[in-house]
Formats: sequence, C-alpha cells, structure tokens
Amino acid sequence: MKLENKVAIIAGGTKGIGLGIALEFVREGATVVVGGTTDKNGDAAVREIEAAGGDGLFVNCDVSNLGDLDRIIERTVEHFGRLDIYVANAGINDAAKTHYLYITPEQYDRIMDVNLKGMFFGGQKAAQQMIAQGDGGVIINMSSVNAYLALDSQFVYTVSKGGIQQLTKVQAVALAPYNIKVNAMAPGPIETDLMRRVGSDKQLMDTILSRTPIGRIGTPQECGRLAVFLASDDSDFIFGQSIYIDGGRGFQAYPTPGYSTVTEEDYERLLEL
Ligand SMILES: NC(=O)c1ccc[n+]([C@@H]2O[C@H](COP(=O)([O-])OP(=O)(O)OC[C@H]3O[C@@H](n4cnc5c(N)ncnc54)[C@H](O)[C@@H]3O)[C@@H](O)[C@H]2O)c1
Repeated sequence: MKLENKVAIIAGGTKGIGLGIALEFVREGATVVVGGTTDKNGDAAVREIEAAGGDGLFVNCDVSNLGDLDRIIERTVEHFGRLDIYVANAGINDAAKTHYLYITPEQYDRIMDVNLKGMFFGGQKAAQQMIAQGDGGVIINMSSVNAYLALDSQFVYTVSKGGIQQLTKVQAVALAPYNIKVNAMAPGPIETDLMRRVGSDKQLMDTILSRTPIGRIGTPQECGRLAVFLASDDSDFIFGQSIYIDGGRGFQAYPTPGYSTVTEEDYERLLEL
C-alpha cells in the first residue's frame, strides 16, 4: 500500500471528486479526515470510508472561514496525532452565467473566498503543521482545465482556477526547503454534482464532449488514483506542476465536425447524479 500510516485531510471531501480521493487514499492505507459544510454529507462520507475498511472523521469546515481551517487541522492532530497530506479540493462554480460586465463584488468574493483564498490559507496552515512535525508532507491543490481555457460563462471560477496554477508553483518553491511537495491536479469534466449543474443543458454537454477526444466524462475514482500518485513517493520528482486529467479536453482546439459522443444514456445518467 502506498499511503500506509499517512494521515490526510481532504478539504471539501464529502462527495464528488473529494470523496473519490478519500476512498482511494483509504484503499492505500491512509487515515482520512474529510471537511465540508454539510453534516449529512459528512456523516455519509465517513460511513463510506468505514465501509471501505478505513478510519475516517468528518469535521464541519468552511474553507472560506480561516477559523474553520485552524479547527480541521487541530481536530486531525487531536484524533490521529499528525498531518501528512492536505488536499485542497473545495471548489464552487458561478451559479448564474453572468456576463463579465455585470458580475458583482459579492459574486466575485463568494467564489474567490472558497476557491483561492481558502486554498491559499488552508495550504499555509497545513504546511505550518507539517513543518512543526519536522518530516515533510504533501499538498495537492484542485485546479481545472479552466486554469487555461477561457470560459467566460464561468468567469470568476475560471479566474480562480488560473490563480491556482500560480499558487501551486509558488507554494512548491516556498515549501521545498521543508520537504513539502506541492502539485495540482486539473480535471476536465468529471461525473459529480458540480458537473451536473454545469452540464444540465444537453447542448452544452454535447459541445463539451465534442471537444473531449476520449469521448466520455471522467470519474471521481480516476481522480482519486491520480491523487494517490501525487501523494505517494512515486511522484517525488514532480514539483509545482498542474497535472491534467481531462480525456484530452484541454488541447482539442476545435470540435470534431459532426461528432457527438454524448448518448441519451450518458445524459440521463448525468442528470441522475
Ligand atoms: N466535476 C468536474 O467536472 C470538475 C472539473 C474540474 C475541476 N473540478 C474541481 O474539483 C473540485 C470538486 O468538485 P466536485 O465536482 O467534486 O464538486 P461537488 O460539488 O460534487 O463537491 C464539492 C465538495 O466541496 C465541498 N465544499 C463546497 N464549498 C465548500 C466550502 N466553502 N468549504 C468546504 N467545503 C466546501 C462540498 O462539501 C463537497 O464536498 C472543485 O474544486 C472543482 O472546481 C471539478
């Protein structure tokens, strides 16, 4: 097992990609603390972690609240004695497709406070704990193909993910002397609630998949496997990178003419998530 005796926090780990990562970590021997803002989802996540044979704890933690970030680290250390891996996964998208000209400061702050400020300070507090322990650690930031695709219908989200790419590099440089490895993973479309909200429009899903060469959306488990790699010694010479897990979505410049990969069955499945 690749993560035996490791203690991990997944901030925003109660469902979707975060839960996929938590379950793969548990399968590799880690103990996992999941953070989130909904107790019901947190309790359900702990049941899934235990059913997978792992030891887990839920801590109610809104990453945009700096006191909550302190609390999840304190609770982790109280319960499991240490912190080895911090996954900054929490992320929210623009609820309304507001044109740039009409985005309000409130809309901007709501998304940036979770996606970028929460990640900035969550990583900082996790690193302080790892440095105090004295034997390094791992930070994984959750980015997106939006880190470089310019999607103006998800304007603030796109800006936040662009920021994560640079945050990851400067964190990696700043924390290298302490043997803390920092990388980001950047998914394309993955089967989760967040994706269902973005893709509840069939035409939009069709467009997304016509630019996804592999012809399907990805799964939280596939993201979990990449996170295991980034958290384990196998990736020790990978440094400050954003690793794209996107079925080729990021680099297909034009939609394939007359090409639609989304079937009625795929679409129904997505709506049921
Ligand atoms: N699903 C995709 O297609 C996709 C693609 C690229 C990137 N991502 C990124 O992956 C991450 C997870 O997305 P998902 O699709 O699994 O979303 P999701 O909505 O299914 O899950 C989001 C998780 O974040 C938590 N969360 C939300 N706001 C929070 C807050 N303020 N504090 C703490 N936790 C909070 C939720 O409790 C939940 O556990 C996000 O950062 C998202 O931007 C997702």
